[in-house]
Amino acid sequence: MRVLASLNHWIHLVSIVIWIGGLAFVVMTLTPALRGKFPQESTKVFFQDIRNRYYRMSGILLALILITGGLNVAFVLREMDKAPKLWVIFLGIKLTLVTAFGSIYLLNVLYKSNPPETGEDAVPYAHISLVLGLLIILCAAILRYSH
Ligand code: HEM
Repeated sequence: MRVLASLNHWIHLVSIVIWIGGLAFVVMTLTPALRGKFPQESTKVFFQDIRNRYYRMSGILLALILITGGLNVAFVLREMDKAPKLWVIFLGIKLTLVTAFGSIYLLNVLYKSNPPETGEDAVPYAHISLVLGLLIILCAAILRYSH
């Protein structure tokens, strides 16, 4: 067993589970559960706190995902003489989607900080981020079985 590669893969997976799982919770549970229950003014302080914590947590997770993703590439390439074409193509697609996903986060931090406007969601652009995250995981699944 390759201990370092496994540990790295574990950190990659855990970071992704926490981030994408958190987004799924916001989109599928929190937002619909709160809809129409409270005056929008009264959820502002709550959303402000969620946003602060989400931005802080996501910054750490993004750094971990990029570092462990890069190391994953190195570990996988060490196992192969030559990377299959399909693997390289899907890695390219995955990285393009990761760039879009990471850009939404960075633009949110720059332009959607606190306090939230009345009527804004707790996490801005959570739906599109979740969809991108799921597509990235699809690319990862294809990568896994293309070598
Ligand atoms: C939001 C960002 C990301 C998500 C959601 C994600 C998701 C995943 C998942 C779920 C796996 C596990 C696949 C498996 O073992 O079945 C994986 C593996 C992998 N990831 Fe990521 N990843 C992300 C970012 C990155 C980045 C930035 C890189 C490269 C710089 C990267 C490179 C890899 C590689 C090379 C593997 C192993 C693929 C293989 O088995 O051939 N990932 N990723």
